[in-house]
Amino acid sequence: MSDSTWTDDLSLGVDAIDREHHLQVDLLDEVVTSLDRARPAAEVVEVLERLIEYTNAHFLAEQLMMRLHGYPLYQAHVAEHDELLAEVRTLRDAVAGGDEATSRAVAATLRTWLTTHMRGMDRTYADYVAQPGVTPAV
Ligand SMILES: [Fe+2]
Repeated sequence: MSDSTWTDDLSLGVDAIDREHHLQVDLLDEVVTSLDRARPAAEVVEVLERLIEYTNAHFLAEQLMMRLHGYPLYQAHVAEHDELLAEVRTLRDAVAGGDEATSRAVAATLRTWLTTHMRGMDRTYADYVAQPGVTPAV
């Protein structure tokens, strides 16, 4: 039995993005599981640092693709990326500060928020790219 948050409906049909989203979700699952098991804060922070680094790289890659496609909703998408990344940092700080109640609450919210972003804004982008005639500028 798997307790993974990843489900096939999160797949956008764009392999490069899907692979990165899957890993992002897995890392966040690892954080939630570690909090549930009351793992030492330093251990959870280490996973969160990896999640922050990975999320930042993934968002930049997604944003580069959007720019190359002249994506009209680019600014709104970037704004949500920035908020999501800020929330991961908030979680990292809560865990590092030993605030267990806040950590659990923020982690649960973040998991819902991230998958909602994938099903919403990322899906909208994938649908845009799939339109006939939409090709990258390079
Ligand atoms: Fe995105």
